[in-house]
Amino acid sequence: MPDSRLRIIIRKPGGYGVFRFDEKPIDDPRQGETQVEVKACGINFADIAVRLGLYAAAKGAYPLCPGLEFAGIVRQTGSKTEGFNPGDRVFGATRFGAYTTSINSPSNQLFKLPTSWDFKRGAAFPVVYLTAYYALYHVGHLKKSDQVLVHSAAGGVGTALLHLLKINNNMSVGVVGRSEKKPSAKEAGAAYVIDKSTEDLWSKAEEISPEGYDLILDANGVSTLKGSYHHLRPAGRLLIYGFASMFSRSGRKNRLKLVRDYLRTPRFNPFDLTGSNKTVSGFNLIYLFEKVDLFRDIMDTIIEWDSEGLIPPMPVTTFAFEDVAKAHRAIESGKSVGKLVLVV
Ligand SMILES: NC(=O)c1ccc[n+]([C@@H]2O[C@H](COP(=O)([O-])OP(=O)(O)OC[C@H]3O[C@@H](n4cnc5c(N)ncnc54)[C@H](OP(=O)(O)O)[C@@H]3O)[C@@H](O)[C@H]2O)c1
Repeated sequence: MPDSRLRIIIRKPGGYGVFRFDEKPIDDPRQGETQVEVKACGINFADIAVRLGLYAAAKGAYPLCPGLEFAGIVRQTGSKTEGFNPGDRVFGATRFGAYTTSINSPSNQLFKLPTSWDFKRGAAFPVVYLTAYYALYHVGHLKKSDQVLVHSAAGGVGTALLHLLKINNNMSVGVVGRSEKKPSAKEAGAAYVIDKSTEDLWSKAEEISPEGYDLILDANGVSTLKGSYHHLRPAGRLLIYGFASMFSRSGRKNRLKLVRDYLRTPRFNPFDLTGSNKTVSGFNLIYLFEKVDLFRDIMDTIIEWDSEGLIPPMPVTTFAFEDVAKAHRAIESGKSVGKLVLVV
């Protein structure tokens, strides 16, 4: 008799009421797969876009179990699976399907959970650190001397970016949208924190670095992109990896705002780019899931740094598995710091 598992399913995109709990038997893991009893799964802002039907990579995939990362205990392995045994504590990343009590994961997307970590830390780890490392080193070509500005600096990816910038000794400026997030960004390693709810973002940014920034990481989109581009110094790089400010914070899709923000989003002119010697890049890790070796290399490096005590703890807020709607509401409110995790 196969074990059963409970999955959170979105049949059709929409508001907080779209989550359904679906209990069905789970198949045995296939060749190269490992079955994991999930103890915790991470919440990412991308999950909000998935719930609302705004995530391009999820188009046509509903009904869909969301979730990009998890941690748990190996229950069994498929044939030709090497490196994992029943009882091993693991964490992993997946292209959807992590909001579940059990998952059959390709074994090469799993990592052994370091002994000092709990499941919450494991579930909160892969997406934000992979994103931060890939952004800084693969897309951003980070140099020791770079002065870096990080938007949404107290969020999941923002905190991970500040952690990695501190390891490299870069001068970083963190921008937050609410005063109560300032200590978190400071704690994560920002040399300066700009609170845009009480300060003028760009005049403060100019005061801190009058000649502009070498690297700016922007996942807000329309609300800050123009200013970010403007505040690059020559040879500066703007990294675009999200569009959070297009979301309405109401839990529903606001079509009018989406269309207006889409039209207002700056388009970058090749003549300006070459004339001012600036680089604009965009990336989305969801399209890199087949690049397992790349992900494993990055993860090995970060886990090594963690074992050397270089990665400070990430603030984590937990929610019960059944409270998935509350967790979505919390990250969508823009008030959360660090990561949010569902505990099974
Ligand atoms: N391209 C990729 O590969 C990739 C991978 C991971 C994440 N991302 C993107 O990176 C960003 C951060 O992801 P995360 O999971 O770590 O989330 P997060 O930063 O923990 O939370 C999102 C933050 O965005 C800011 N924000 C701005 N406008 C908002 C709005 N209208 N509604 C809600 N929040 C708003 C808020 O911070 P402040 O108000 O303090 O700015 C909020 O706390 C997201 O845009 C996500 O889509 C991209």
